[in-house]
Amino acid sequence: MEMIRLGRSEIEISRLGMGTWAIGGGPAWGDRDEEQCIETIVQAPEKGINLIDTAPAYNFGNSERILGKALQRMDRSKVRIITKCGIVWDRKGSLFNKVGDVQLYKNLSADSLRREVEDSLKRLGTDYIDVYMTHWQSVEPYFTPIQETMGELMKMKEEGLIRAVGAANVTVDHIRQYLSFGELDVVQGKYSILDRQAEEELIPFCCENGITFQAYSPLEQGLLSGRYKKDYVPKASQSGKKWFQKENMGRVIDMLETWEPLCEKYKCTKADLALAWLMGQGDYINVLTGCSKVEQLEENARALSVKLEKNDIDWLRKVSEI
Ligand SMILES: NC(=O)c1ccc[n+]([C@@H]2O[C@H](COP(=O)([O-])OP(=O)(O)OC[C@H]3O[C@@H](n4cnc5c(N)ncnc54)[C@H](OP(=O)(O)O)[C@@H]3O)[C@@H](O)[C@H]2O)c1
Repeated sequence: MEMIRLGRSEIEISRLGMGTWAIGGGPAWGDRDEEQCIETIVQAPEKGINLIDTAPAYNFGNSERILGKALQRMDRSKVRIITKCGIVWDRKGSLFNKVGDVQLYKNLSADSLRREVEDSLKRLGTDYIDVYMTHWQSVEPYFTPIQETMGELMKMKEEGLIRAVGAANVTVDHIRQYLSFGELDVVQGKYSILDRQAEEELIPFCCENGITFQAYSPLEQGLLSGRYKKDYVPKASQSGKKWFQKENMGRVIDMLETWEPLCEKYKCTKADLALAWLMGQGDYINVLTGCSKVEQLEENARALSVKLEKNDIDWLRKVSEI
């Protein structure tokens, strides 16, 4: 297993992590075969992936519950778990998304975090979380200063409930504040070959400050695997997204056809190319791919052994500017 260090912590993680957003099922992703989801997680370490990402917000605790069931069949000491805080549905906060007919709220207050960590530990069936991550950042009217949030997270770290702190969906200004109140080891943000905005400020800032950058939605929710045809009707979790708009989706599908010669050269799939391209951007980048079936896990894990040549990395970047 090719490992990298998570930020400046002692935690070793694989270059590729597995995300369990879709595994949570529910209104966003549709119902799933639970046994198949559990088996996918159980097999991840055997395929070179020791890092599993989840969140309470992934179908109201269901993704964490399923991960908890998988952990019962795994050696806990060999798995690194990320779960998140700050999105709630059973208490007050600032308005966030609606999932189905349930309203989600943002709340990063110390009291709320304490309740959340206890609930997550129960659902996961473990007594520690490797990385505890703020899922979305605080906004008015229920605004919590990062000093308060980070203060509580640092206490949890001292108590041994969590081993490291992460923050998702942040700006450089947020990161500066986190760093001034404690240790931040990982930042999670959207990054794919089609959406490279993180390269402008976030990734260079993380690199300069010894923070691991973790890319989510590296396959643009499955689109870059090439599985969807032009008449595909997006699921709820995909429908509002830029690359799932009909015209854009058509352009992506056409672009993916131009990748065929590279698939042959590297004896890999389009999903592997999209993942290997991201890993090829720097060894401090960790890539979180979402897998809900063993076949997807096996396919995506093969990207770990695809080492793209520099000219191919450059070519892929060029043809992806669509
Ligand atoms: N912090 C945040 O705000 C945030 C936001 C988004 C995601 N995340 C995390 O990052 C993880 C990764 O993001 P993502 O789930 O959007 O990742 P992704 O890798 O872009 O998409 C994952 C989905 O694509 C499909 N897929 C994956 N591999 C495939 C393959 N080889 N062939 C065909 N289809 C394939 C699957 O859809 P089906 O399951 O429908 O088959 C899978 O659920 C999430 O699971 C979550 O843990 C965090």
